[in-house]
Amino acid sequence: MDEEGITNLIPNSEIQQDQFNEDQRKEKVDQLKQSIQEKYPQSFVSQSDINDQIYLLTFPLEIHVGILTTQFEIEIDFQQLKIQILSYFTNNNGLILIQSKILRLSVSRYMLRLNNNLRVGSFFINPVFGQLGFNLQCNNSDQSFFKQNLYESEFISYLDILIMTAIHSLRFHFMRILFMINQINIKLFKVFENYMDKIRYQEESESKSKKIGESNMSWRKLPKDAEILLSRIKKVVKNDMHLEFSGKDYEELGPILQKQVTTDTKCLIQIKPVELNDLEVDKSFLISEGGFCNIYSKDIFYQFVREGQKQMQSQKRPLVIKTDKQPQGDKVKKEIEIVAKLSEVQTLDPKDLANNRLKYFKFSGCCPYIAQFYCVPERPDKVLMERYYHSSLDFFKAKQSEVLSLSTRIFIAHSIAMGLRYIHNYGIIHMDIKSANILISKTLMAKITDFGEAINKSKYSDKEKPGKTLPFCAPEIQQKLEANQYTFAYDIYSFGVLLFELLFDRFPIDFRRQNLKPLEEKLHKLTYAIRYDESVDKLLGPQVIMKYLGRMCLQCMQPDPALRPNIDKIVLVLKDCLTYLDKVY
Ligand SMILES: Nc1ncnc2c1ncn2[C@@H]1O[C@H](COP(=O)(O)OP(=O)(O)OP(=O)(O)O)[C@@H](O)[C@H]1O
Ligand SMILES: [Mg+2]
Repeated sequence: MDEEGITNLIPNSEIQQDQFNEDQRKEKVDQLKQSIQEKYPQSFVSQSDINDQIYLLTFPLEIHVGILTTQFEIEIDFQQLKIQILSYFTNNNGLILIQSKILRLSVSRYMLRLNNNLRVGSFFINPVFGQLGFNLQCNNSDQSFFKQNLYESEFISYLDILIMTAIHSLRFHFMRILFMINQINIKLFKVFENYMDKIRYQEESESKSKKIGESNMSWRKLPKDAEILLSRIKKVVKNDMHLEFSGKDYEELGPILQKQVTTDTKCLIQIKPVELNDLEVDKSFLISEGGFCNIYSKDIFYQFVREGQKQMQSQKRPLVIKTDKQPQGDKVKKEIEIVAKLSEVQTLDPKDLANNRLKYFKFSGCCPYIAQFYCVPERPDKVLMERYYHSSLDFFKAKQSEVLSLSTRIFIAHSIAMGLRYIHNYGIIHMDIKSANILISKTLMAKITDFGEAINKSKYSDKEKPGKTLPFCAPEIQQKLEANQYTFAYDIYSFGVLLFELLFDRFPIDFRRQNLKPLEEKLHKLTYAIRYDESVDKLLGPQVIMKYLGRMCLQCMQPDPALRPNIDKIVLVLKDCLTYLDKVY
């Protein structure tokens, strides 16, 4: 089909594209410019032509006196006979840009929901430069501009209605949006609200006498409970995070801390393969090679074994098989031991129940935040596992980091913290918390795995020597401690590094190879530095929560293990951040 054929298919092709010559086009644009200038005498209309077919008129209009000005942009395209009207948020420095991709993602999500209910146009973020704006919905009336015998006033009043309706939407949402993108904080939000209230009363009393105009100016407030959440986050992070909640706190917060995804499958389940030979694997099944273990994936035909009796149904599913690399290796044996411990149902002593904390936690042998393990008693040299769709967090993040929203990141961190709390409640220190040891399920739940380095506080073995993965390992690793000298705070340090990387997309410590020797020295002397600048880094996301999460990370990475945050407090802060994001974004 040739060009003419295509143009014929387009409706409105009765309007001929070459109906205006260059002079006429210029004159039409000039007239429009003058009319706009008359309509909005407070603003200055400037013209910049893109080419001799496309003209651009721009003029600022204040959305609210002294608070926000938006730049209106009318693009008149004589080639396509189209008019596009955009409005961009501006501040003293010009266009407001959202640089951080996390912030863009969060705000886009909000706008998507917002735009569903808007008829006059839609909010948008420019995906390249991050300008924030509003796209005014022009209907067919914009074609009237291109009619030969145009009644100028008809188009201008159409344009005016369009702009006024858009300003209404902008006014309703701009404070909330400015808040979301860190342009104003809660305090300023309140100040503006007061100020706008005053203006509203002025307008109302004016309009009473005139009986016209917009009388009920309103704007989208912050959800009430958002502030309560924020003040709780702030309170928890500010006050001695290393201390346990008080008994009274547990009474109040226990039910919140207790909530989790329910599961009734034990961390370790015994299975019986229909053919033991199925467990044999060779290189072709290898999916990953860890430091000490090989990880294979294979379809296995098996049955569950429960309380000694076989279940009737056999099933064939892809499972992961983990074996020691060295024949004399003991990582697999160790892993089975630890996971078996995590699967024990523990009944609390009455004296433990007097402990305000413990009564809120389950010791059921089931935890949805720990990877699912299977064992075959005949083959103690192999441990089997569920195969997780996204593999480990390091891979997942490398692939998805561009589209990973802050909520998802915090959701993942929260799952890890919940898993860690469960492990610690059982008296086990993981000793190797890092993104390669966190598996991610289809539903993006994090599952802690790799218990090959774990320390069981109630049963030390003699050859425990913790792994040493920089930058995750805590500085006490440099002190050559005995196994019984490590505390749960070792994992808290690693968790801090992990959370930091999830939030800020970089590691808090520079561990490039050339820095390795000096770094070890610094870790040893506890003079290591963390690459973090609150005033800059908090702006990568909603500043209120980034700020406190950032501080929590720093506290986790403290040199003194005794001063690192309590896991219950970490869980609560992450949970509150998630709820906050849900309510505000
Ligand atoms: N169940 C699973 N599903 C999907 N991928 C897995 C699974 N288990 C392990 N992997 C992948 O294999 C890698 C190594 O697993 P794992 O940490 O259990 O072995 P490891 O030899 O003890 O590791 P290392 O000694 O290097 O810490 C993981 O980081 C993950 O990418
Ligand atoms: Mg590992």
